[in-house]
Amino acid sequence: MKGLILSGGKGTRLYPLTYTRAKQLIPVANKPVLVRVIEAIREAGVREVGIVVGPTAAEIKDALGDGIAWDVKLSYIHQASPDGLAHAVKVSRDFLGDDPFVMFLGDNVIEGGISSLIRDFADNAWNSQIVLKEVDNPSAYGVALMRPDGSIQQLIEKPPVPPSNLALVGIYMFDRHIFQAVDAIKPSARGEYEITDAIQWLIDHDFSVFPHIHRGWWIDTGKPTDMLDANSYVLEEITPDIHPAAQVDCASTVDSRVTLQAGAKVINSIIRGPTIIGKNTLIENSYVGPFTSIYHGCQIRGCEIERSIVLENSRIIDIDGALRDSLIGRNASVKRSRGKPSGIKMNLGDHSTLWV
Ligand code: TTP
Repeated sequence: MKGLILSGGKGTRLYPLTYTRAKQLIPVANKPVLVRVIEAIREAGVREVGIVVGPTAAEIKDALGDGIAWDVKLSYIHQASPDGLAHAVKVSRDFLGDDPFVMFLGDNVIEGGISSLIRDFADNAWNSQIVLKEVDNPSAYGVALMRPDGSIQQLIEKPPVPPSNLALVGIYMFDRHIFQAVDAIKPSARGEYEITDAIQWLIDHDFSVFPHIHRGWWIDTGKPTDMLDANSYVLEEITPDIHPAAQVDCASTVDSRVTLQAGAKVINSIIRGPTIIGKNTLIENSYVGPFTSIYHGCQIRGCEIERSIVLENSRIIDIDGALRDSLIGRNASVKRSRGKPSGIKMNLGDHSTLWV
């Protein structure tokens, strides 16, 4: 069994953060989503993992190296352009050989891992297994229609009248027959080789495709609100930990669901969990949390932050009112302006959004 993680793509819905960084490297609860995916695959016993990379290849390789830190062997597979998930499978053929594999979108976060899925596939002689989840708005997803024997009869992209409320999550298992499918299909109307078309090809050619219904939460971190949701879920799950090299002064209150990483310093502040404060980050005269992740090397002074993600080396200083539901990029600076004339002053990157 091999693992295939898809980390090509452009990440346009997360602009401006993804102008300068691979979206899969944005941290959720202070750990990049891609690292969470690698850990889920490794926990399921899969050690040989290929990562499909595109324009952000250098940054991803830099962050993950050969995978030894996560006890996996990583291979990088270059996809010249993001021509679709089925295209990503096509370019991974040499790496995958004849082995069955689990394919995981590198920007998805799922509760409880994938061990039971991998066991299910290993115990059955199916050609493919796809993860489905009950959703409230199936018309926004690829939806599965099942046969009475429990196998999948049809996958329908964003159906106006959905045949079920079971939507495709970005996790799939395949055997080698998927290569026949990805070679046979044509690009869709949006110009991509769609994995749903490849799976439908398998079904139409009498290969067996069965579902695995996922009962926990699952988030595709495509948009900023999804990142904040994923952050909240993961913060709820992690076991809080105060690193011995973190400092909290006696004027501060840090509740039991807070994680402080090495070198984090809390002065005259209240931190309400679930919240994580990164390495060498300073929180002073502030209120932080709940559901907040402040990454490494930040300074938060004189402000209130709630249900937000702040990336590395950013400074948020003396802000009036609470900052909430916010996603702040790297090396960003948010400060109160004391000079006259008063007013809001900004240097905003392309595609930024500011609510005032
Ligand atoms: P998407 O979220 O569908 O696409 P995207 O990353 O380009 O994002 P956006 O729509 O905001 O521009 O991709 C899901 C995952 O699959 C993501 O981790 C990128 C990866 N991917 C590939 O590796 N190759 C591809 O050809 C495509 C389309 C996506």
